[in-house]
Amino acid sequence: MVLLQSLDALANWQASLVWHEKVTGFVPTMGALHEGHASMIKLAKRQSEVVVVSILVNPTQFNNAKDFETYPRTLEGDMDKAQAAGADAVFAPSPEALYGGQPEAIPVNWGALTHAYEGARRPGHFDGVVAVVDLLFQAVQPTLAVFGEKDLQQVGVIEKLAKDWHPGLKVVVAPLVREPSGLAMSSRNARLSVQGATSALALHQALLAVQRGAQDGGVVQAVKAQRAALTANPAVTLEYLDVLDALTFEPWKGRGQEARPYVVVAAEVEGVRLIDNMPLTA
Ligand code: PAJ
Repeated sequence: MVLLQSLDALANWQASLVWHEKVTGFVPTMGALHEGHASMIKLAKRQSEVVVVSILVNPTQFNNAKDFETYPRTLEGDMDKAQAAGADAVFAPSPEALYGGQPEAIPVNWGALTHAYEGARRPGHFDGVVAVVDLLFQAVQPTLAVFGEKDLQQVGVIEKLAKDWHPGLKVVVAPLVREPSGLAMSSRNARLSVQGATSALALHQALLAVQRGAQDGGVVQAVKAQRAALTANPAVTLEYLDVLDALTFEPWKGRGQEARPYVVVAAEVEGVRLIDNMPLTA
């Protein structure tokens, strides 16, 4: 596996492989790789001949300076994990190298997809995601790119980005990977204490309860009850718990519609912002 830290190094390596004649897979990340990322690299490897993993803590998608500064940066360990999962290259440019100067993002408005839920809570977040992923797609020019269902709204945004700006590129969605405890794996979990990781299980439990409620026909009551439980939980600061249509990020209007109903949650535990979700039909 090779480490590529500039656009030129990436282009030279790709030229040596005759990149455009191969099925090429791409897994964009911000590093601090865990089993969730590894499963995506393995999925890319099963569907491609060559796999590139990018690692870049992208400044333009952070609306909170402290979150950006404290985001874990562990390139050496990440390289071992990427290689073990089957990556052929890690592309890890500096933000300035990728953006060609001071990193900046142009505002994007795709309605609820970019402005509801995560977009509302983290203004400008999806502007930065779109900016960096567009630049990465231009640089890597993959046949397919893998994104995790863990960031459900990001999947919707990237599917639109690919359709409108990179036609022909296939977006592959990877399932959410959890700890044996049920906690959704996240690079930010590294900032939780053991107690915090236990407290965070309340989010998973709330999602399961809403999923059960939906199966029993009582989704509205289940959402209300779980919102109340999380609000009363002193270890959790709830931002939202809701049922929505993952195709649009508009509220779910009930069965019988063309929709992908999901229950989604965002909350802080020990000052760490966590998100999780679950499909309602599973
Ligand atoms: P990051 O948070 O590092 O996540 C990289 C990819 O891994 C995303 O597609 C994310 O959905 C996926 N992922 C994270 N945790 C996962 C889990 N528990 N199970 C399955 N997949 C998981 O998402 C980003 O980085 C950035 O926004 C990025 C797309 C790289 C742009 O900067």
